[in-house]
Order: sequence, then C-alpha cells, then structure tokens
Amino acid sequence: NVWYPGHINKAKRRIKEYLKAVDSILIVLDARAPLATTAFEIDIFKGKNILFVLNKSDIANNELTTKWLQTIGQTAPVISFNKNDSISKIKNFVLKNSKTKLNETRLLIAGVPNVGKSSIINKISGKRSAKTGATPGITRGVQWINLGKIKLLDTPGIVFAKLFNKDIAAKLLLVGSLPIENIDNYDIISRAFDIYKTEANVEEDFEDYITKFGLSRGFISKGGKCDFERSKNIFFKLLSEGKLGKFTYDKDFSMWIYK
Ligand code: GTP
Repeated sequence: NVWYPGHINKAKRRIKEYLKAVDSILIVLDARAPLATTAFEIDIFKGKNILFVLNKSDIANNELTTKWLQTIGQTAPVISFNKNDSISKIKNFVLKNSKTKLNETRLLIAGVPNVGKSSIINKISGKRSAKTGATPGITRGVQWINLGKIKLLDTPGIVFAKLFNKDIAAKLLLVGSLPIENIDNYDIISRAFDIYKTEANVEEDFEDYITKFGLSRGFISKGGKCDFERSKNIFFKLLSEGKLGKFTYDKDFSMWIYK
C-alpha cells in the first residue's frame, strides 16, 4: 500500500539517491490533471534539467491538452504522450532538450503514482535496449537502460502529491493517483463526484447515481440491493481509466506556477 507513510519516506530517500546519478528528469503528469499531478515538492528537482510529459492524452480532452502544452511550454519543454504513441517521440524530445555537456543524458522518469511512469520505461526499454551493470551508490538492482546518447534509470522516481486542499485530492482520485480504497474522507469523494457531475452533465446526486450504476452492472449484495461500496469503487476505477469518458479536470491555466 503506497499510502503507508513508511513507503513514502522510503520513496523520498530513494529518489534523492537517484538524483545524484542523473542530470535530467522527465516528470510525467496526467494530462487530465496537470496541476494536481504537480502538487508535490518540485524543489527536490532543483538544478536538474526538467522536462514534462502530459501522459494519457488519449483519455484527456484534446483541446485542453493543447492549451496545457502552450501553458507549460512557456516555462519548460513539454510534450503530450499516450500508450499509442511511438516511443521515439519521447527519445527525440529528450535528445532535443538535453543540456548535458557530457556525451550522454542521464535520465530519471518521475511522477506521482499511476501517471504511467512504468509503462513509459517498459516501452522505452523495449527489446533493443541493453541493460548495463548496477550503478555504484544506487540501490542494488537499479540499472541503466542504454539508449545510445540517453541512459535511463530502469526504475521510476515516485513522488507524492501534497493534498493541500480537497480539490487536489479529488482530482488525484479522479485520475487514479489516489486509490479510492484509501480514501475514507467522504468530502473528497463527494467533491470528486461533483467535478465529474459537471463534466458529464449528470443530474442525480451521488447516492442515486452510484446505485443506478451498480444495479445496471449487476453489483448486487445479498438482500438484492445495490452493493454500494463495490459500485462506488468500480465507478471511480473505470472513470480513472478513462472508460466513462475523456475528461480534463484541471482548467485553470493561470495556476501553473512552475518556472
Ligand atoms: P505507480 O507504479 O503507481 O507509480 O504507477 P506508474 O506511474 O508507474 O503507472 P503505470 O505505468 O503502472 O500505469 C498506471 C495505469 O495507467 C496502468 O493501468 C496503465 O495501463 C495505464 N496507462 C499508462 N499509460 C497510459 C496511457 O497513455 N493511456 C491510458 N489510457 N492508460 C495508460
């Protein structure tokens, strides 16, 4: 369970270790919530060459992704990406924006949980990559993936968003970065549903909507009633996977403060 504080501390220690070995960071954001998925202490990457990827663009609103690319692009290099794109898009982007004076860019892929870091690493590593030996000073088992002029750490740097406010938490829930099973604060769930409601033009309130959703999918508990807990969890899971529509939840472009 990644929300156990012990794991968060471990992840923090680990990322600091990785940072010593790299010059560039590819920060993976969810294209549906670029603000909520940057709500971590971005200062830890100070002094590094920072590049952004708006990932999962296949399940975000296309128009808003274009606007986010323009907004973020004023402060740092950025591209959109999704699982259907060719990985050369990322490789070329990294090469083009490399600032190292050495003849190779040492890269870490980082981001909050569930934004698609591992999917990108797995796709990048592909068949043609050659894994080299473990790097001294880096956690045993972590290796470089050799991509010619790019050397990529084969393990992502996981950072954790600060739940500064209900809105951020709600949006992280909507994109699956905060698992629904870990949320016992009804206010966050309720806020997330309200945000969805606006996007999807839903009229019903939360209880009615989830009950209908559950019954229509046959999530029935013993008494023949809707299994509300299960229905609620599956609703948020499918929504976060983009299976209930393509929605972008962050739209306040003036709130992009990363410089
Ligand atoms: P953690 O290990 O929790 O930090 O997650 P991660 O950031 O490594 O994300 P991961 O690659 O495990 O992907 C999370 C989920 O998102 C998986 O179910 C992926 O299949 C899905 N996913 C990844 N990339 C994309 C994408 O471009 N589009 C869509 N629709 N789904 C994606």
